[in-house]
Amino acid sequence: MKPFPEQMYITTPIYYVNGAPHIGHAYTTIAADVLKRYYSNQGTEVFLQIGVDENAQKNVEAAEKAELPVQEYVDTIAGEWRQMWGDLGIEYTDFIRTTEDRHTAAVNKFWAAVEAKGDIYKGEYVGLYCVGCEEYKTELQLTDGKCPDHDRVPEELREENYFFRLSNYRDALLEHFDAHPDFVQPRSRRNEIRNYIADHMADVSISRESLEWGIPVPGSDGKDVIYVWFDALINYLSVIGYGTDDAMAEKWWPAQLQLVGKDIIKFHCALWPAMLMSAGLPVPEKVFAHGHFTVDGQKMSKSLGNVVNPREVSERYGNDVLRYYLLREISFGNDGDYSDERLRQRYTDEMANGIGNVLSRVTNMVERYMDGTVEPVLDPAAGENYGKAEMAAYHEAMQSLAFHKALDAIWKLIADVNEHIEQTKPWTLAKSEEEADQERLRVSLAHYVVVLKQIGEMLTPIMPHTAAAVTEAITADKIEKVQPLFPRLEE
Ligand code: MSP
Repeated sequence: MKPFPEQMYITTPIYYVNGAPHIGHAYTTIAADVLKRYYSNQGTEVFLQIGVDENAQKNVEAAEKAELPVQEYVDTIAGEWRQMWGDLGIEYTDFIRTTEDRHTAAVNKFWAAVEAKGDIYKGEYVGLYCVGCEEYKTELQLTDGKCPDHDRVPEELREENYFFRLSNYRDALLEHFDAHPDFVQPRSRRNEIRNYIADHMADVSISRESLEWGIPVPGSDGKDVIYVWFDALINYLSVIGYGTDDAMAEKWWPAQLQLVGKDIIKFHCALWPAMLMSAGLPVPEKVFAHGHFTVDGQKMSKSLGNVVNPREVSERYGNDVLRYYLLREISFGNDGDYSDERLRQRYTDEMANGIGNVLSRVTNMVERYMDGTVEPVLDPAAGENYGKAEMAAYHEAMQSLAFHKALDAIWKLIADVNEHIEQTKPWTLAKSEEEADQERLRVSLAHYVVVLKQIGEMLTPIMPHTAAAVTEAITADKIEKVQPLFPRLEE
């Protein structure tokens, strides 16, 4: 097993505040929270950033629709997001809003560094801007003149813009990719983005002329605002004090892990590292791009009305169930599908009949046959060896972000206990007068308790409430049969 780092900075994308959160957003943030808890439990000091992207044009459109002043609108929605992460039990270190002064300070400092490097120039931009993507599109990227992701005709813009010399960094980026094969994961994404850098990457416009909402370009008298992606990426620095608390920023930068969805790798794996190189800062150690969820086989979209709200799922089934389902259903990095039916299936088969059942079985038997206490396991060697392979697989999986495999390792232990119970038949042993049978009963139950403790520990980062319930039940001075952790679902 790799030694645990002393400190770790984990980031998540900052989400637009133009609408309600959906399970896609929750997916990234929950994964980050699992890692934060996992590493913290091992003694690593972890900084987990989360936040919202407020300076986007699409937020302005949403405010207009809601008939609210933009600031008031973003304040309200940002508050709702923050509240939701609290309700979902996300243990973040700090929540950054890009309308905060500390962020503006960071952006100004960053801009100045890039400008000093000679990487900013003025030019005329003519292009097709999709507000949905907050990105310029080429004709090739359009279908029947429309952005295929947002089904809308992009705006034709002709503006005087500031440009960032992204193309200056092509060679440096390619070198970095080649020297650090794990910089972008999974492999397929790494190759995709490396090809983009090698073949298509050109300078980018980093300001907008006609907008009133956003961070003004330094020295432009407020005539131009900074392009939202250039501004938003800098949140990863402003939240750790860049521009306001240099000692803290130095302590935490570079990030060890930046989690993103596959839709935004161009920004995070090409533009962002180039921006950092230009500003004289190290690039993050790793960017991991996960896949997307569809819902019942369809793309999640407001217009289809199939957007799944994580808060509703959590209110209905609990936070742990949402966490388990999202991380178990697809392997992190691949695409997959969300379905309420499958969630309920997993709830019954894997949670109620898996961890829930094994805990009530064992606590029930310890209460009935042992009067609530287990003796220390008689053969310590056997106890210590228990589940070593699963434990190793678990750590390996957690450290490579293969959450579904970590869960597999835990469920393997659960299955082992259940199987052992079926073979040993403690209820028969309990009836026997033979000393050997009594001994076997005591040892078996003591072992089950040890394994359940271990299961509790392994589950802690992924299903914190369930893990706490398991640990509490199993470490009580007098163990009692517990109520089902996952009651039967109503139809
Ligand atoms: N504001 C930008 C990010 C700026 S980061 C400096 C943005 N915001 S977003 O609100 O559109 O959220 C994008 C992120 O949401 C994705 O990268 C991903 O993490 C998550 N997901 C959005 N849709 C998703 C799915 N259908 N499935 C899984 N995750 C998805 O882009």
